Amino acid sequence: MSDERRFPDGFIWGTATAAHQVEGGNWNNDWWAWEHAPGTPCPEPSGDACDQYHRYKDDLALLADLGFGTYRFSVEWSRIEPEDGEISQAALDHYRRVCDAALALDVDPVVTYHHFTSPRWVAAAGGWTEPATADRFGRFCEVVTEALGDRVVRACTINEPNIVAFIGHRLGVFPPGLQDHDQWMRANEILVAGHRRAVDAIRGVRPQLPVGLTLAMSDYQAVPADDSAAVTRRDGIRRDMEDVFLEACRGDDFLGVQTYSRTRIGPDGNLPPEEGVPVLPLGYEYWPEALEATIRRAWDFLGGDVPLLVTENGIGTDDDDQRISYLGTALDGVRACLADGIRVEGYICWSLLDNFEWAFGYGPKFGLVAVDRETQVRAPKPSAKWLGDIARANALS
Ligand code: GCO
Repeated sequence: MSDERRFPDGFIWGTATAAHQVEGGNWNNDWWAWEHAPGTPCPEPSGDACDQYHRYKDDLALLADLGFGTYRFSVEWSRIEPEDGEISQAALDHYRRVCDAALALDVDPVVTYHHFTSPRWVAAAGGWTEPATADRFGRFCEVVTEALGDRVVRACTINEPNIVAFIGHRLGVFPPGLQDHDQWMRANEILVAGHRRAVDAIRGVRPQLPVGLTLAMSDYQAVPADDSAAVTRRDGIRRDMEDVFLEACRGDDFLGVQTYSRTRIGPDGNLPPEEGVPVLPLGYEYWPEALEATIRRAWDFLGGDVPLLVTENGIGTDDDDQRISYLGTALDGVRACLADGIRVEGYICWSLLDNFEWAFGYGPKFGLVAVDRETQVRAPKPSAKWLGDIARANALS
């Protein structure tokens, strides 16, 4: 196999999910409340999701059979700490069983400590605009690491803190549903503090456990590229959406890059999709090249000091051929970054399963594996075998 098709030895290949999107019955968190609140933007509640709380062994076996060696999933804070300071040993035991089931299949658990959802009691006490939440989250991370640290291969502190801040506090589409610039800035600050507390807490328990955050990135393009007003606007938006969190990653063991598309910014702000570029169900362009662009930007921004791991990349589409094309182009971009000496440690596809896509409900299909909403029966799509074969060969076909 020619070199330009191969990935480095030890390159990580995996798929990802999140507790609230797949487990089912996560009623004690802010998202469950949001889904049932009067006037909610959610088209449907998460409900049973994919019932993975009970079906995790089968899902792990499916993932391993496909050829993946890593599973990124999140632990649910509201299950583990249902009330302030009240820890559920039963919940911790459940997640130890999930880790053990993965390890028994030679699948490495990559655990996200916070993936969009917070316990109701945390939200009621101010959520991510309350400074004490950073300390509460740090305490939670200590508890989880004491219970699971010997089984977790890599720890992701907070999933997409920039999205939690922006969509929850500026757009108002995620909980707590605010549309306030100052609250957005405040949430950015406290999520950064939460990440730093988490890194310290995790390292305090397991100093050797690689830890980092996972950041939603976009290929932010000024249009026209040489227009100073557009460039200034783009830089300002990117600073609030990405740079404040990239700065917070300095000294971490890795940064999780999570990229889906690009964002075009003109002199007056966001521009609509470009004429002729396909638009996906979530409203953004089909733009797989964005992964390479954001890997390069994250690497340069951090001066090559923080290894990168693609912790999410994928496409919400009903057209599985389009998914294969998208993933192929995205992986070509990863290969190009590796060829230029950028340390990309692996690629984790979003997602293993079609699941609850937050304020879009179950409409968008990001899974390599379909899930029958009535019967919960899993059905791997052609893209699952296609990507699994690449993972097994550690090379592009
Ligand atoms: C995110 C979250 C995932 C999404 C995925 C598809 O990036 O928004 O990490 O929970 O489901 O990205 O939008």
